[in-house]
Amino acid sequence: MNNDLCTDIIHKIRSLFRTKEYIPLHAPIFSGNEKKYLNDCIDSGYVSSVGEYVNKFERMFGSYVKSRFAVAAVNGTAALQVALRLVGVGQDDEVLTQPLSFIGTANAISYCGAKPVFIDVEKTTLGMDPQKLQEFLKKNTYMGDDGRCYNKKNNRPITACVPVHIFGHPCRIDMIQAVCNDYNIALIEDAAESIGSIYKQKHTGTFGIVGIFSFNGNKTITTGGGGMIVTDDENLAKRAKHITTTAKLPHAWEYIHDEIGFNYRMPNINAALGCAQLELLDKYLANKRKLALSYKDYFADTPVEFVGEPPACRSNYWLNAVIFKDRQERDAFLKMTNENGVMTRPCWRLLNKLAMYSRCETFCLEAAPWLEDRIVNIPSSVRAAEWEAG
Ligand SMILES: Cc1ncc(COP(=O)(O)O)c(C=O)c1O
Repeated sequence: MNNDLCTDIIHKIRSLFRTKEYIPLHAPIFSGNEKKYLNDCIDSGYVSSVGEYVNKFERMFGSYVKSRFAVAAVNGTAALQVALRLVGVGQDDEVLTQPLSFIGTANAISYCGAKPVFIDVEKTTLGMDPQKLQEFLKKNTYMGDDGRCYNKKNNRPITACVPVHIFGHPCRIDMIQAVCNDYNIALIEDAAESIGSIYKQKHTGTFGIVGIFSFNGNKTITTGGGGMIVTDDENLAKRAKHITTTAKLPHAWEYIHDEIGFNYRMPNINAALGCAQLELLDKYLANKRKLALSYKDYFADTPVEFVGEPPACRSNYWLNAVIFKDRQERDAFLKMTNENGVMTRPCWRLLNKLAMYSRCETFCLEAAPWLEDRIVNIPSSVRAAEWEAG
């Protein structure tokens, strides 16, 4: 890596964030009603999993993404586990997903006792490749008499497909949806990173039967820790609420549970934070888009490629990413930026390369390892200076 270019990039990032201090990858900002709502919550005594802020946050969220129902959960991984359970994923089923993602995607599948199968991603969207998905299903599966899709190699049912909108960039979800429909596979969107991202006029997370979001501290909006399950299906929404609240039957004083549910309901205090954050989401998104466009302009004059939003999409630009020529250049950049107080990081180690997933089936992995060698995430927080200036 050319040192002058690296120094120039560091300079550019510092000028965009207007600071000589350490620059993290993504830090939350709390500049709205957060303290007011938290105080409210504390004053009311409802800080746990019952309370008006949880209901309010669900209503606000559902209306923001235009989903009929939204059910809040303790985090995105739990939301995904429940989503898989809602569509019937069980022991020894297979679930198609992608190798380029956060560990939570694969872990949620494992928590259901199911096995992930890793299909390659696209270089342009970073999300699951719809053509390869189709090719995998055509070559390797058969439809059973029960109308379900089975893997020829092991006769396991392929129950669900979980594509991911990586770094907030929408994948080609309509094409993936069409393929899933052809094979009677339930589509669940891992939209953990993509609040505010739109694909062909529709919010990510609302194409599948169920979608999930994360509000971890590093996301575009945060509830401290938290997640959301969205669906247009009333029965699934009711069931999501039921199994995330220990499957307790409604009764004024009796404790009767009708199955082994989960204690996964988002606490009121987290939801209070979420309501305040959601009120400011559009401003956060505008601020982040401005930053992304500045990066895009800057990198256009360099040999480093900036990952822009795919066609027909509006990305939330949660985490900006750049692509280097090779792994060596990537590593030189990572070293120099981190040594100079600018946080950068490579994308995740591919899930199929981690010990616990190394024996899982993979299909046609070409783009994923190529990207793994070259991607670096660069600072992407809402910029406070611009924020304060309005
Ligand atoms: C793609 C993806 N899936 C799932 C998750 C899990 O969300 P959480 O950390 O809230 O459990 C995250 C993020 O953290 C994520 O980035």
